[in-house]
Amino acid sequence: MSSVLHRKINRRALLIGSGGFAAAALLPRVARTAMDSVKDLTLTLTAAPGRAPLVGASYPSTDVWCYGNSIPGPEFRVRQGEPVRVVVRNQLSEDTTVHLHGIRLPNAMDGVPGLTQPPIKPGEQFTYEFTPPDAGTFWYHPHADSLQQLGRGMAGALIVEEPEPIAVDRDILWMLGDWRLTSDAQIARGFGNAMEAGMSGRVGNTVTLNGRVSEEEPVRAGERVRLRLVNGALARIMALRFEGHRPVVDFYDGLSYWLTQLAYDKRPPMRAHPLAAPISLPRNPLPEPDLASAERHELRLQGGMMGGGAMMGMGGMQGMSHGMSWAINGHSMSGDGHAGMPPLLTLQHGRSYVLTMRNETAWWHPMHLHGYSFRVLSRNGSPVPHRQWADTVLIPPKESVDVTFVADNPGDWMLHCHVTDHQVSGMMTVLRVA
Ligand code: C2O
Ligand code: CU
Repeated sequence: MSSVLHRKINRRALLIGSGGFAAAALLPRVARTAMDSVKDLTLTLTAAPGRAPLVGASYPSTDVWCYGNSIPGPEFRVRQGEPVRVVVRNQLSEDTTVHLHGIRLPNAMDGVPGLTQPPIKPGEQFTYEFTPPDAGTFWYHPHADSLQQLGRGMAGALIVEEPEPIAVDRDILWMLGDWRLTSDAQIARGFGNAMEAGMSGRVGNTVTLNGRVSEEEPVRAGERVRLRLVNGALARIMALRFEGHRPVVDFYDGLSYWLTQLAYDKRPPMRAHPLAAPISLPRNPLPEPDLASAERHELRLQGGMMGGGAMMGMGGMQGMSHGMSWAINGHSMSGDGHAGMPPLLTLQHGRSYVLTMRNETAWWHPMHLHGYSFRVLSRNGSPVPHRQWADTVLIPPKESVDVTFVADNPGDWMLHCHVTDHQVSGMMTVLRVA
């Protein structure tokens, strides 16, 4: 554990030198929505600049951009199969949209500017209407000027509850964020650095749990907790280790990060023996792909820096232009979405597909498909144990992953790396389902 303590000290050392004035505002972190017997629920999200005490009272509050005047944005809890409306008001000084990440919704509600809707201009609003078909832990974030809007704090959780409650004592959300802060706890400049874009992206120096640097999170002996994790970071890939009840974000060499510790409160154990049987969640109504008749396609992920700083695998590619670091099958689409993005593939409505995503680069890529959940079938040709449903799959350097889904949701859907710097500098494409 000494290395963990060392990290903790390092983490604090990143933020030396601030004046000791108190946090200006204590923002409400969670605006829970009382869900009982509410049908046709209308939720409101106001996007605007704000201030948040990310690092605690001994540092100044951080100037952020946020939803609902809080970091993270309001935690929405809705119910599977019940209609929801989300009214988004834009009080930023630039265009925005909201992408409801992981929800299988109609294409027009997907929040990609130009591709699925006109951007929401400053002072304007847009209403997203959908009925979440699947229970689970989802999140929302902008899909416009993503580097800055997500990087300055715009993200929140959207939890879709099962119709019948799951038997746990507590249902907890950890919305994780990553920030590059200066010594006075302000967001550092330099979004969209081209060198970082060709490497691991803008990884920060401060990881927050529900919008705060966390010293400890309370737990009670014997309780059964459902812990929902959302990585809302711009670029930081997180692998949580829980050894010794001290969750550590451990992914990049030399950048592991002591996140928090679980602290048992003084109360007596909730029960004499921990509950035995694990809970299995009810299945979501996802169509099972037919592997025998599935059409197969390969997506090659290309580009980025090699060890020596040279670009990799980009020689003479079509569609490459200045400032592009990455490509899929030789084509680079950049930004957050725009009108007239040509589809890389056109999939037949109702047909099963297997996509092989082959990472030819030296970097990790969490690949996200909009509008769908896919089954993860195999890695490097070997079957994965649980064949889980996911909307994002992490692909290590030089490895490949096969995923499968039924193309049952028509429209133009983005497929991109969720390291935002990679997405906006070429690792993005469009799949059309028609
Ligand atoms: Cu959370 Cu286009 O993605
Ligand atoms: Cu990537």
